[in-house]
Amino acid sequence: MSEFARGARLYHNYLLPIPPMTKQRLCELNDLDRTGAKGVILTGDSYTRELLVVLKIGYVYAYENRCPHKARLLDWMPDQFLDEDGELIVCARHAAMFRTHDGRCVTEPCTGATLRAVEIMADDGAVFLNES
Ligand code: FES
Repeated sequence: MSEFARGARLYHNYLLPIPPMTKQRLCELNDLDRTGAKGVILTGDSYTRELLVVLKIGYVYAYENRCPHKARLLDWMPDQFLDEDGELIVCARHAAMFRTHDGRCVTEPCTGATLRAVEIMADDGAVFLNES
């Protein structure tokens, strides 16, 4: 998966067209203003899927909201995923810290593990799931 595929650049002139069949709105870009990240729950007939969307220096990224250490939810309160500097995603359970741009864990207890990235695109002030 390329860097571009994981992060969707916010500027319209860099965006790829969004196939209509795969466009599912996750959140508005301004939903990320307050905390820098947002939890999203997707539900269907037979599934519930929890994601997090994070904004970092003009790019937006999305991951499954599951820690690779013990598969726990990462947030300690709704939309609270980042450390106090807003630099890293922190797992609420055992405080593993993950880089926002690639989801790689940089501390114990799961150093080197990665969050599962989700394909997204940004368009028209919103973030969309971009999976087939
Ligand atoms: S469950 Fe996330 S660090 Fe242990």
